[in-house]
Amino acid sequence: MIQKADRLSDVKEYYFSKKLREVAALKNEGKPVINIAIGSPDLQPSAQVIEAIQQAVATPNAHQYQSYQGIPALREGMRDFYATNYNVDLNAATEILPLMGSKEGIMHISMAFLNKGDKVLIPNPGYPTYASVTKLVEAEPVFYNLNEAGNWLPNYEELEKEDLENVKIMWVNYPHMPTGAVASKEDFEQLIAFAKKHNILIVNDNPYSFIIHKNALSILAVEGAKDIAIELNSLSKTYNMAGWRVGMVVGDAEIIKTILQVKSNMDSGMFLGIQKGAVEALKLSNEWFESLNEIYLKRRAIVWQIFDALNCTYDKSIGGLFVWAKIPEGTTSEALTDKLLYEKDVFITPGTIFGSNGEGYIRASLCVTEEVLQEVLNRINN
Ligand SMILES: Cc1ncc(COP(=O)(O)O)c(C=O)c1O
Repeated sequence: MIQKADRLSDVKEYYFSKKLREVAALKNEGKPVINIAIGSPDLQPSAQVIEAIQQAVATPNAHQYQSYQGIPALREGMRDFYATNYNVDLNAATEILPLMGSKEGIMHISMAFLNKGDKVLIPNPGYPTYASVTKLVEAEPVFYNLNEAGNWLPNYEELEKEDLENVKIMWVNYPHMPTGAVASKEDFEQLIAFAKKHNILIVNDNPYSFIIHKNALSILAVEGAKDIAIELNSLSKTYNMAGWRVGMVVGDAEIIKTILQVKSNMDSGMFLGIQKGAVEALKLSNEWFESLNEIYLKRRAIVWQIFDALNCTYDKSIGGLFVWAKIPEGTTSEALTDKLLYEKDVFITPGTIFGSNGEGYIRASLCVTEEVLQEVLNRINN
């Protein structure tokens, strides 16, 4: 048997990768499992996006390797997307790097800036990939607490007590997954001041700003943020293109160049049709977000009823692609989600997969039709 690399000793297979095998096995046994766990948009991309990829397939150069930095039209589309939606000016030639989804960017950024043993501040609860990638590059995760009482924002008093000497990167993610919490411009200003004081690269992972959120905000809208912060963004949720794999990292030209140094050694460009489709998506106006959110709001109303039926509590003022709910006393997140899976054939996410501070919470996704959510509600009520 070939020994696996040491770097994998502390990295588990991604929760959903493992759990979905179990769900598939239950389905194979004939269990009618409904999955309301995952944030994979079921709604379609807009018609012109699909038409653009179809047309691109017939162009002669579509099948060749593409530019490592994406076609100019894609970077220009991303520049316009930032200018229109966030009021942030970016240079399309130097300050934008298209990615195959923002998830891969987490690895590229980590490889570009972390040495073995460097420390990385990671939100608890937060997207699990920040910690697993940190471990894969043999850096050290340092989890910082987010909690309901603190509106799921960093507690700087607590952070200042940490030894921040070797911290090189801090991952932040507002609007926040899994809780849906948002950071205001003032919150970002405080974060930038903290980062400058300690010379820590801030990476704001920002794929959710348009899903049941008004006033989309980029961290780069803060004066002086570009000196110390970059941002990841994604077309996955914003334009229902999760499977297409299109995202971006934006910020200071030198930082972007360093990330390209890694990325250009990892892949050989993104399929032309996907880039052309992405260009069309990025042109969509506010009406697109409004029509999307109209559907998500109707779904959320049913998810709220599901959580009421489970005696869970949740904050109705919080938006996002998920509903994050506090479970009743006397059970745990995993005990409750396992009970729902085995007794009601409903797969829902335990808060603990996002870190220890997720204990006591569960998360439901809005990427399921109203009819299916109604069926979940019926099962829970019966
Ligand atoms: C917080 C967060 N960041 C990044 C991603 C990855 O998104 P993408 O599809 O752009 O890779 C997700 C996906 O669920 C996410 O929740």
